[in-house]
Amino acid sequence: MKNIVVLISGSGTNLQRIINCIDSGEISNAKVSLVIADRECYGLKRAEENNIDNMLIPRGKGFSDELEKLLPDDTDLIVLAGFLSILSKDFTEKWNGKIINIHPSLLPKFGGKGMYGTKVHQSVIEAGEKESGATVHFVTSGIDEGEIILQGKVRIEANENAETLAEKVHQIEYEIFPKAIEKVLKIPL
Ligand code: GRF
Repeated sequence: MKNIVVLISGSGTNLQRIINCIDSGEISNAKVSLVIADRECYGLKRAEENNIDNMLIPRGKGFSDELEKLLPDDTDLIVLAGFLSILSKDFTEKWNGKIINIHPSLLPKFGGKGMYGTKVHQSVIEAGEKESGATVHFVTSGIDEGEIILQGKVRIEANENAETLAEKVHQIEYEIFPKAIEKVLKIPL
């Protein structure tokens, strides 16, 4: 059984999707052993409701060191599911190949520092893109730069705005995230 630790900052709908896919067997032989948030958020309540251990480590300078201390040794995969803090170089190097993130654009486009939430979708629309999507990638010390595991695309319609695009991208995230997790868990050590 593989142990997944999920890091969140927000509402946790992707967390919920991961939990559901473990229950349904779409993600096999795994469990969410711990949920960690870097701020008060609804995702913590979801963890609680699903009887998953959860904790809050306040965001800020010492976050990665604290995370390192509290992370169980038997953690197989760290999943960033709507997680807004930047992990330290030491941390990402130590857990290299075992941290994945979901980003709401087709990386390498519209990634990097400050590119999160509505800002991503707004930028995509302002750039006149014909498509957008979501990317699951390995986490390295470079923001949104790690190897891409899976991408899903959505079409941008003529009347699209940041809000409607965010909703479409969320839907594609629910499709690709469990597949990417299953894929990574199957990579031999
Ligand atoms: C997602 O759009 C994800 O790509 C981004 O944050 C959002 C998280 O949504 N990094 P939720 O908390 O899973 O609903």
